[in-house]
Amino acid sequence: MERRDFILTGSATLASLLALPHSRAFSQAAKEKVSPGHSSGHLPLLFGTDYYPDQTPESLWEQDAAAMAAAGITNVRIAEFAWGLMEPREGGFDFKWLERVVGILHAQQISVILGTPSAAPPPWLTQKYPEVLMVNEHGVTLSPGTRRFTCPTNAIYRRLSLAIATEMARAFNSTPGVIGWQIDNELTLGESGRCYCRFCREGFQRWLRDRYPSLDAINQAWGTVFWSNTYTDFSQIPVPLPSGAPPNPGFALDYDRYQSFANVSFLEEQLAMLRKLCPTHFVTTNNVGLVDTIDMRDLYRNLDFASADNYPGFFAILLSGADSGASGPPDAIATTSAFGHDIMRCVKDGEPFLIMEEQTGKAGQPFFSPQPEPGQLRLWSYQAVAHGAMGINYFRWDTADFGAEEYWHGLLKHDRSHSVGFDEIQQTIGELKSLGHDALNARYEADLALCYDPTSSWALTIQPGQPKIKYLSELLPWYGSMGASHAGVDIVNATPELSRYKVLCAPVMYIVSQEQAERIRGFVENGGTFIAGFRLGVKDEHSRIVDTPLPGLLRDVMGVELFDYQPIYSEKQSVQFSGPLAGPNAECRIWADILSPQKAEVFASYTGGAYAGKAAITSHSYGKGRAIYIGAHLESKDLARVLLTLMAMSGVSRPIQAPPGVEITTRRADRQAWTYVLNHTAKSQSVTIAGTYRDLLSKSTVSGPMSIEPYGVRVLVQA
Ligand code: GLA
Ligand code: ZN
Repeated sequence: MERRDFILTGSATLASLLALPHSRAFSQAAKEKVSPGHSSGHLPLLFGTDYYPDQTPESLWEQDAAAMAAAGITNVRIAEFAWGLMEPREGGFDFKWLERVVGILHAQQISVILGTPSAAPPPWLTQKYPEVLMVNEHGVTLSPGTRRFTCPTNAIYRRLSLAIATEMARAFNSTPGVIGWQIDNELTLGESGRCYCRFCREGFQRWLRDRYPSLDAINQAWGTVFWSNTYTDFSQIPVPLPSGAPPNPGFALDYDRYQSFANVSFLEEQLAMLRKLCPTHFVTTNNVGLVDTIDMRDLYRNLDFASADNYPGFFAILLSGADSGASGPPDAIATTSAFGHDIMRCVKDGEPFLIMEEQTGKAGQPFFSPQPEPGQLRLWSYQAVAHGAMGINYFRWDTADFGAEEYWHGLLKHDRSHSVGFDEIQQTIGELKSLGHDALNARYEADLALCYDPTSSWALTIQPGQPKIKYLSELLPWYGSMGASHAGVDIVNATPELSRYKVLCAPVMYIVSQEQAERIRGFVENGGTFIAGFRLGVKDEHSRIVDTPLPGLLRDVMGVELFDYQPIYSEKQSVQFSGPLAGPNAECRIWADILSPQKAEVFASYTGGAYAGKAAITSHSYGKGRAIYIGAHLESKDLARVLLTLMAMSGVSRPIQAPPGVEITTRRADRQAWTYVLNHTAKSQSVTIAGTYRDLLSKSTVSGPMSIEPYGVRVLVQA
């Protein structure tokens, strides 16, 4: 499988700690070891490139550095895959080459983010310590020879990863030009996201001991009496490898949590060391927002800021044929990228994030995305900034002419001449720098929140109910419809304070914790609109089905009880709308929650089968707010109509008229707001925003309907 395929197919790779408190040992360790680092407010502007001096003849370093400086590049990220060169044999370290390249870059005023190299251990390591190799979900030990094939629990692997990172930190903690660190690279984003080896099994047993008061409590929580699985000793607890039948859902969910924990604690070991040895440097790690094998909030909790890798063109391959909730490419690509950005901004509660890698040309292996259209590379950079990025690193400086990613195109072609997109990126870097620090660090404005909880994602992956139900694929159309309101969307887990939002949406919120239920109840009582999708509150945090009528903890807020729930395969089902949703009937495929309103009004009913006439969508006034249950699985276009109507009823409106494919976001600092208008279509478009603005890019004053060129961008400030 292409290594990113699972981001959207969301198959076997999901994990977290989110809805439950951290394990005691972990949070204690985090408190002791990890002191706060930098805040992004004090960082220099970061418009850099990912550079591979380890793959480039030394004779080219000087000219590369000079060319980067001429292009306006401020920094590089280097060395994250150079373990073999830095430690050619165990304990024999060589940083001379790296010192030379850092010096050459620094002479050109290019600063350096160093990557710790644990994603790609060299052959001597796996030859001597084959037990560090990951075992995948089928029980197969991964082969070395690529990257991301190691176990996050294995003590030897952790020791050796920490050792090389420590030697790097010692060598570079006061080297002029070095400003920060990226720990590892895209943790868990390999062919297999989780490890099932014997060390992980022992680690899981230790983690369970720490998390539960007793073995008996585990047996109770999981319901191990079923099929005679009662454990009488911790050492009997297995990992969810293939067995004679699907695993116990509570056990499998806790294993996903453990794997998330193992990766976070792997990172935190390196982080604690870096805090001690490099107190003036920032520390981050890079990942893709749509990867949910790790709970990203945990991963980034003690890091200085989140870093994201952004390859919008890749979605062109993945989304071909998929129902993304947008009006189709390129809108679908824009929506998916925007969702990734919003996730990364929200893992640090709205703090600006860094794009650590950004697509610069054709991307992919073994299939490549199309060459971005003229204007798209610039547009994608602005889109990241429009959603909260503070800087961008372009992937990569040159294009390798060997190795697994030789078709992943960079700023230089294979012959080292400028790529097709080079000039456009150079222009973009210049423009984005001129926006300045305040604009790049401003807060993103959101009236809407979408609940994205890895716990529900993992639990639903273990038990989708209908094979077509995949957590992220269910969320995307909701996100796309919410985005179309131009009111801004934050991605939340429904545990922090929600009062700043007008609407909270929660599709497939399969697991609802007590804390989440209380937050949602308070949100609605105080005037918020909560819109839930089918499969709400079916389970508790142990993945046990609630023993009250569904939707469990939220049934008084929703004012309904479930009469039944139904997977739909070949049967015909459709929905007839009424009241404020009146409109053409919509098909209901995949799933139907059949609702019995207790105190709620009916906004739609089913038309087919035994449940014809029963409620499909209900609305309940609760406190000062309203709770809406969308029990039917709707196609994206119908869902969009329903959600946009419901949002308008909830007072979500911005004085903006924009056609599909045009995105509008706002970032705000104390005294100023920046409105980004992004045309993701190949046609010129017209947009109307009330008021008179100054466009910082065209340096003109605009008001009333304004035109925006194909793939064009406007950055507006109040005139
Ligand atoms: C990722 C990785 C990089 C590289 C690029 C292109 O985001 O972090 O190492 O593999 O994608 O594939
Ligand atoms: Zn393992």
